Amino acid sequence: MSMWKKLQVRQKMVKTFRIGGLYLGEIESPVFPKIQSVNIKENTTVVFILPNGLDPNILKKKLFVFKQVFGNNIELDGEIKKFILRIYHQTIPTNMTYSYDSFHALLIPHRLGIICGKDKNGQYVTFDLAKQPHILIAGETGSGKSTQLRSILTTLIKTKKPSELHFFLGDCKKSEFHIFKKVEHVQCVYSNARDIKKMLLHIKEELDERSDLTEMFEVSHVDDLPAEHRRPYLIVCIDEFVMLRKDATIMDILTEVVAIGRTLGVYAILSMQRPNAEVLDTTIRANLTVSMGFKLRDAVESKIANTPDAHKIDISGRFVMNSDKLYEIQAPFLSMDKAKKLLNPFMVSKKPVKDVTEQPKVLTEKDVFNDVD
Ligand SMILES: Nc1ncnc2c1ncn2[C@@H]1O[C@H](COP(=O)(O)OP(=O)(O)O)[C@@H](O)[C@H]1O
Ligand SMILES: [Mg+2]
Repeated sequence: MSMWKKLQVRQKMVKTFRIGGLYLGEIESPVFPKIQSVNIKENTTVVFILPNGLDPNILKKKLFVFKQVFGNNIELDGEIKKFILRIYHQTIPTNMTYSYDSFHALLIPHRLGIICGKDKNGQYVTFDLAKQPHILIAGETGSGKSTQLRSILTTLIKTKKPSELHFFLGDCKKSEFHIFKKVEHVQCVYSNARDIKKMLLHIKEELDERSDLTEMFEVSHVDDLPAEHRRPYLIVCIDEFVMLRKDATIMDILTEVVAIGRTLGVYAILSMQRPNAEVLDTTIRANLTVSMGFKLRDAVESKIANTPDAHKIDISGRFVMNSDKLYEIQAPFLSMDKAKKLLNPFMVSKKPVKDVTEQPKVLTEKDVFNDVD
């Protein structure tokens, strides 16, 4: 059976080479690329070798012929001579419920395991925020940004002790992060610019202290500090951070966090509706090593967010991720109610100072939040 299937794949490859003009010599006596192996498991992988003299660029140009023969769900890798064609049998799920048990084992090797979702192999994609610091989550209203933040934060809370990880949350729309307010890991949840600025000034002090400590002990990372000086990881997470862009102090500190936070154990996760080159200036953009582009408005926004084709997405919770490479992923759907249940064991009663405070404003909301829909 498997021999028969492999033979079929070989025949389809030769057909692709023939109709795509991917051979040397005349069509009566063609020299086709050599099919080195065909492997059929969850996906089919074909390794083939180009004959010397065949221009590899033609292969890239003729990718559409592979798609016409094998379907859209393929990938072609290779540069000069050896190429690998992957034919995916699975498709990305269009809807997937958050289930901690189904992926938590994958997070164990990570210091700060981020759950992204499932890719076109039907496999969960995760990464370590300590290794790939700072995440940009971009997407139109309703595309799934806040849901993704909820799932990332809930997962981190379930995997790290409150002594290992502290959160500083900014919720400019006042609609998302209240469920985290009483969680032990969470230091504060603020929603107005004045409080968020205070929170960031505190982060700035923390950055300075940590820099001094690493210098004093001559270590390159806070994780290498002597036990009595160890610091927890800090994650600054701001939903819809564009609303704060008029505040230079806030933007300066966020820029500093993404520029030097990695070795100091301080990380940022920022979400925004419309990636805009002015807000995401080159320093910030270069330092956000992971971008998740949910549905975006147009190709320009996809380019600014570093997530090509994110404007072509038409499914909620679907995104293009750019980290070490490009992925298309379906995010797990974690409802507010389910998140609350999962967070319940981590709730503590807190002093009012940790609550969202409604204080007299120095900056008016209009000053700061002026072009938001
Ligand atoms: N991962 C997902 N899977 C399926 N549906 C989703 C997912 N994420 C979001 N949605 C749907 O889209 C709606 C808006 O999601 P939300 O995260 O609030 O978007 P945003 O913050 O980008 O405005 C949700 O109420 C839900 O119906
Ligand atoms: Mg939102």
